[in-house]
Amino acid sequence: VRAMPQTKPLVIVTRKLPDPIETRLMELFDARLNLDDHPFSRDELSAAMAEADVLVPTLTDRLDSAVMAQAGPRLKLLANFGAGTDHIDIASAHQRGLTVTNTPDVLTEDTADMTMALILAVPRRLTEGERLVREGKWTGWTPTFMMGHRLWGKRLGIIGMGRIGQAVARRARGFGMTIHYHNRRRLHESVEQGLEATYWESLDQMLARMDVISLHCPHTPATYHLLSARRLALLRPHAYLVNTARGEVIDENALVRMLSKGELAGAGLDVFEHEPAINPKLLTMDNVVLLPHLGSATLEGRVEMGEKVLINIKAFIDGHCPPDRVLP
Ligand code: DGY
Repeated sequence: VRAMPQTKPLVIVTRKLPDPIETRLMELFDARLNLDDHPFSRDELSAAMAEADVLVPTLTDRLDSAVMAQAGPRLKLLANFGAGTDHIDIASAHQRGLTVTNTPDVLTEDTADMTMALILAVPRRLTEGERLVREGKWTGWTPTFMMGHRLWGKRLGIIGMGRIGQAVARRARGFGMTIHYHNRRRLHESVEQGLEATYWESLDQMLARMDVISLHCPHTPATYHLLSARRLALLRPHAYLVNTARGEVIDENALVRMLSKGELAGAGLDVFEHEPAINPKLLTMDNVVLLPHLGSATLEGRVEMGEKVLINIKAFIDGHCPPDRVLP
């Protein structure tokens, strides 16, 4: 690890962060903030890499190997604001001697809440009903009006049983769902028992038997299009699919084709393969709830994410291993 300069390090932040975090950054470092919150162009990103001692990027910055090659001699730390690091070429960062950190843990409960909101909203037709009321089309209660499906007693299949997957499992049990999961590694028996969760070694077999599927794995080369057209076709036509992880984990075109043909009951999507671009067909579907990547978007959570960024930078500058170091 290269030594940091004696003067205050230049910390370049690529997006606007919550006010208290920006105040702390200004107090502690020579911080260059993005006050108008415009997304950095590739040129701006490259220039920041060339100049900074520490870069604070977010998921809207693509730090691929070409941008990484612009790293100047002063750059030592990429302190990402966010848990997911799929926008950063971690291997290339490490080859250049750059340390990468992220902000896990503090967004677990908020993301699980939003996931639960989608798991409720899609089968109970929440946004469809709300649109109808706003459009002045509600003519009154009837015994068969806008019936959805109950969650109680239904099977929830969680793909990726890390912190967020487990937090979703805890919530879903409260709604009377039975918990099933697929994960690279099986959970310790005591954790599995605590969650009353059933492990499926075969993802294909789990997909074919669930009522709701929720994704909680990171986007990596191994999980890109994990839900491929072939796997999506295993889902039962009455099943719902919820994604608060990363859009790239689902073959979105295949999902849209299935939804158009009625081969899936509905979907709740907080993330998209080419966000912020949305497949226009999704916009026409009533059985799909669409959110603009809001999983961790609470004031409390975003401040805590910022505090993690500060802790990671401080630890690194003080010569310690930062607590949230991301290894290749
Ligand atoms: C993350 O941190 O990776 C989320 O997707 C953004 O909140």
